[in-house]
Amino acid sequence: MGSSATEGNTERIDDRDALSDWLADASNDGKIVRTRLRSSERVIARVTDGIYRAPASALREVISNAWDADATKVTIHTDAPRFERLFVRDNGIGMSYDTLSWLLHSIGGSAKRTRQGQRMGIADPVNADRSPSGRLLIGKIGIGLFSVSQLSQHFRIITKVKGNDFRLEAHVLLNTFSEDQNDLDDSEVEEFVSGEVAIHRIGTDDLEAHGTDIILDDIKPRVREILRSADRWTAIAEREAALERGDRESAAAIRDMAPRYHGGWIRNVHQGEEGPDLLDIEPKLPWGVDTPVDARMGALVEAVEGEFSRTNRPNLADTLDTYLHTLWTLALSAPVSYVDKHPFDLTSEDNVRLFWLSNEQRGQAIELDLTKNITIRQACMEQAPGAPTLQDGLPELGDSFQVEFDGVELKHPVRYSFHPTGVRGLETSLMFVGKYSPDLASTIDPMASGGRLDLEGYLFWNGRVVPKENNGVLIRVRGSSGESFRSDFFDYQISEQTRLRQITSELFVLKGLDAALNIDRESFNYSHPHFQLVNLWLHRALRQLTNRHKGITHTAREKRKSTAAAAQQDLVNTHAEEVWNSRRGDDAPPDVTIASTKDEAQTAREQGGTAIVQPSRAGISGATATQKVQTAASALLTVLDAYGLLGDLDYDDQQRLVEDILKIFEDDL
Ligand SMILES: Nc1ncnc2c1ncn2[C@@H]1O[C@H](COP(=O)(O)OP(=O)(O)O)[C@@H](O)[C@H]1O
Ligand SMILES: [Mg+2]
Repeated sequence: MGSSATEGNTERIDDRDALSDWLADASNDGKIVRTRLRSSERVIARVTDGIYRAPASALREVISNAWDADATKVTIHTDAPRFERLFVRDNGIGMSYDTLSWLLHSIGGSAKRTRQGQRMGIADPVNADRSPSGRLLIGKIGIGLFSVSQLSQHFRIITKVKGNDFRLEAHVLLNTFSEDQNDLDDSEVEEFVSGEVAIHRIGTDDLEAHGTDIILDDIKPRVREILRSADRWTAIAEREAALERGDRESAAAIRDMAPRYHGGWIRNVHQGEEGPDLLDIEPKLPWGVDTPVDARMGALVEAVEGEFSRTNRPNLADTLDTYLHTLWTLALSAPVSYVDKHPFDLTSEDNVRLFWLSNEQRGQAIELDLTKNITIRQACMEQAPGAPTLQDGLPELGDSFQVEFDGVELKHPVRYSFHPTGVRGLETSLMFVGKYSPDLASTIDPMASGGRLDLEGYLFWNGRVVPKENNGVLIRVRGSSGESFRSDFFDYQISEQTRLRQITSELFVLKGLDAALNIDRESFNYSHPHFQLVNLWLHRALRQLTNRHKGITHTAREKRKSTAAAAQQDLVNTHAEEVWNSRRGDDAPPDVTIASTKDEAQTAREQGGTAIVQPSRAGISGATATQKVQTAASALLTVLDAYGLLGDLDYDDQQRLVEDILKIFEDDL
C-alpha cells in the first residue's frame, strides 16, 4: 500500500511493510520517519488505565522482553530518589526493522511463539516456543512493552542487531485516553491510532554491538510520587512540624513510620535555581559502597529478616520504602536465581525434612531421606517414585541472566532458613516437593483441553515466614511470575489459618497454564482447565502437608511431654535423696520398689528393701501419669523413712499411709 507522505523533511509511513522497507534502506541513514502506533483501542486503553498496578509490573515486562531477546545482562538505572528518569539496557539480539515495524503496528498481537516470530528471528526456527538460544519465551500477548506507558507518556527505544551497520532510535509519544472508551463492545474494537512514533536510522561502524535501550525521560508525576514514597515522608514531616508547634493531638493522629531502609528523600526536587537538590533525608541502605553487587540482595534480605528481633512478623511495607520494595518485587518476579540457593538444592544441613507429594486424590506425602548430605534434587531422583528429575533451577543451557538495578544484582528474595515458633514448635522446617504432568489426552475428563500441563512445585513449612509477604503461593509460568505471593492459596477453603501462615510455596509451570494468565500476567482466568488442574493439585498438596504436619507435631508434643515429665521426676527423686542425706548422712538410701503385685512387693521386702504395691487410683491413665504416681510414691517412702516414720508401721499401714497422702495431691498427679 505504501501510504507515505512527506511532512517537511520527514516522511510519514503508516503501512507496516512500507515502514519496514524504509528502515531497511541504507540511503535513509541519518533520516527520520514518522508513523502511528496501531493496536486495538481496548488493548492500549487497558494498558494505560492501569492493568499493571505497580511500577514494578511495567519493569517486569521490560525485563521479560530482555530475557526473550536472549540478553545475558540487563541494567536498570533510576535517578533515585528523584525518579524523573529511568533507563534500561540489555545486551540481547535487538530489533530488526521488521521486528520494530511489527512491534509498533501490532500492539496486542505478539509475533513471539508464532511462525512470524520465527521468520523475524525472535523465536527458535525449529521450536517457536523458545528464543533463538533456546529459552522458554515469556512474551505472548504483545502489550508488555507498552506497559511502560503506565510510567511515562513518551519513551525512546534504541536498538541494534549484531552485524548491522545501523541502529534504530524510536521516539514514542502516546495519546491519552478518555475513560469511557472502555465501554466499547467487541464489534467496535478496530485498529486504533494510539500514539505517534518518530524513528531515526543512524549509521554506525560498530557491527558487533547489539541490544536494546528503553529510556523514560519524563516519568509521570503520580508515578514519581509513588516511587518517592512521598505520602509517607510528607506525613512524617507534618508530624514533626506538629510536634514543634506543640500540637500533640495532630502529631498523634499521624501514624506513618519512617521505613527502616530507604533510598532517601528530597522534598523539593528542582526547587532551587541556585544549585543541586539537597537531600532532606539521607538514604539508608542495608549495604555499603564496598558490598559487591551480587551480595547486595542478600544484604537486603538479611536486613528484612533482621527485623525479627524487633517485631513478631516483619513485613516489607514497614521495613522498606516504595523504591526498595519495588526492587524486591522485581527480584521476586524476574527470571533470576535465588539469593542463597534454589529450594531444590537444599540439603539436610539446611535443617529441613523432605516429603514427596502424591498426585492421587487421597494420596499422602512420603518422607524421603535427606541425610548423607544430598540435595533435594538428588533425594527425589533416588527415592521418589518414578525417579523424577526436578528441572527448575537447573542452569538453562549453561548461560546466565543477570539483572542489575541501581547497582544491585536481583535475586529471588526467598531464603529457606528455619525460624522456630518457640520452645514448643518443631525443630526443623518441612519441605514438600512434587511434580505433576497430567495425561490430558487419555482422560475422559471434560476439562481435558488446553494442551499439555507440566509443573513442579514445593510447599515449604517454616515456623515463621519472614517477611510476612513471602507467605502464600507464587505461580511462575516459564520462570516469570506476578508480583506477589497469594496468601489465600487461591481460595483454599479449609480453616488451617495458623498452618497456612507458615507456608511459602512456588509452583514452577514448565508447560501450559499461560493461556490461563490474564492480560496483566498476574491473575488467572479461573475457569481455564489448566488453572483448575493447578489449583486442585495445590489444594491436594496443602492437604498432604497439613496431615503430615499434624502427625509430626503430635509426635513431637508427646515426646516433649514425656521428657518434661522425666525431668520433673528427676527433681522429685533428687529432693527425696537430699532429705535422706540431710537426715541420715552417709547411710545408703533405701532401695524402694513400687511393685505391681503384692507378691512382688513381698519379695522386695524380703531382700531388705522398702516396697508397696503401685497405688491403684481412679482417674489415672496413661504411661506418663502412672510414672508420676510411682515417682511420688517412691519419693514419699524415702522421705518418711528418712524421718524414721516407717519402722513402726506394718506393711498394710505403710501402703495406706502412702495412698492417703497421695490422695491429697491427686489433682497434681
Ligand atoms: N528488549 C527487547 N529486545 C528485543 N526485542 C524486543 C525487546 N522488547 C520488545 N521487543 C520486541 O517487541 C515485541 C513486543 O514486546 P511486548 O509488547 O512485550 O510483547 P511480547 O513480549 O508479548 O511479544 C516483542 O515481541 C519483541 O519482538
Ligand atoms: Mg513482552
